[in-house]
Amino acid sequence: MTVPILEAKSIVYSYPDGTPALNGVSLSLGAGEKIALVGANGSGKTTLLLILSGALAPRGGEILLRGEDVSGRASALNKAAGLVFQDPDDQLFMPTVAEDAAFGLVSKGVPAREARDAAVSCLESLGARRLAARPPHRMSGGEKRIAALAGILVTEPEILILDEPTSGLDPAARRNIVKTLENMDSTMLIGTHDLDMALGLCDRVLVMHGGAITAKGAPKEILTDGALMRKNGLDLPLRYSESENL
Ligand SMILES: Nc1ncnc2c1ncn2[C@@H]1O[C@H](COP(=O)(O)OP(=O)(O)OP(=O)(O)O)[C@@H](O)[C@H]1O
Ligand SMILES: [Mg+2]
Repeated sequence: MTVPILEAKSIVYSYPDGTPALNGVSLSLGAGEKIALVGANGSGKTTLLLILSGALAPRGGEILLRGEDVSGRASALNKAAGLVFQDPDDQLFMPTVAEDAAFGLVSKGVPAREARDAAVSCLESLGARRLAARPPHRMSGGEKRIAALAGILVTEPEILILDEPTSGLDPAARRNIVKTLENMDSTMLIGTHDLDMALGLCDRVLVMHGGAITAKGAPKEILTDGALMRKNGLDLPLRYSESENL
């Protein structure tokens, strides 16, 4: 059997104020898989994504990268995994969107000009070439999200960790993002409330509830199971809901 690219074993985390967030989460990502992480508000998705990208250190458990134990080695995770934050304000910091989107490539040693061209063409593929010269702190929420996505997608990380990539986007912007993700080879773990995206894009779905993974399986099997979804504080994807959730 091939070694998973990323594996988590019994991850435990509570925040410094004592709030418990993860109580023994295990998962495994095969190379090239696109996995959706769904769950109600506060179920632990963001905390898990921060830990798997090396932005937060777990209080217990193990993380393996290509079979090698990298627990306590955030730099190994940072290098392999690109994280798009749930809140774009946590990520955007350069004076313009193009500079911001080029930053990741520049810091990997790509010449500035080349990095900028790649950033602009990534913005173009997201239908957002118009944002290149704009200051990120003076844009709308959706525009900021697209800019934040561009900065990570352009680096084509081996593992792409996305926290609510389609939240707050209009239908055209959402379609551009989903299409771009569809065409990328990176292994993906996507925290999302966009169940229709999970259904159309992902190979597998993990359901979180109360800081644990409570169900996993094929998207159609999990996301169309009304009883399972409701038990986990969720509803059916819109295309299966027949307006019953409105
Ligand atoms: N900075 C923090 N300090 C203390 N507790 C926190 C902090 N951030 C999150 N939590 C708590 O940790 C738990 C998990 O939160 P997390 O942000 O991982 O949930 P989530 O599934 O991403 O939710 P959402 O769908 O709203 O984004 C919740 O109980 C939450 O209140
Ligand atoms: Mg979250």
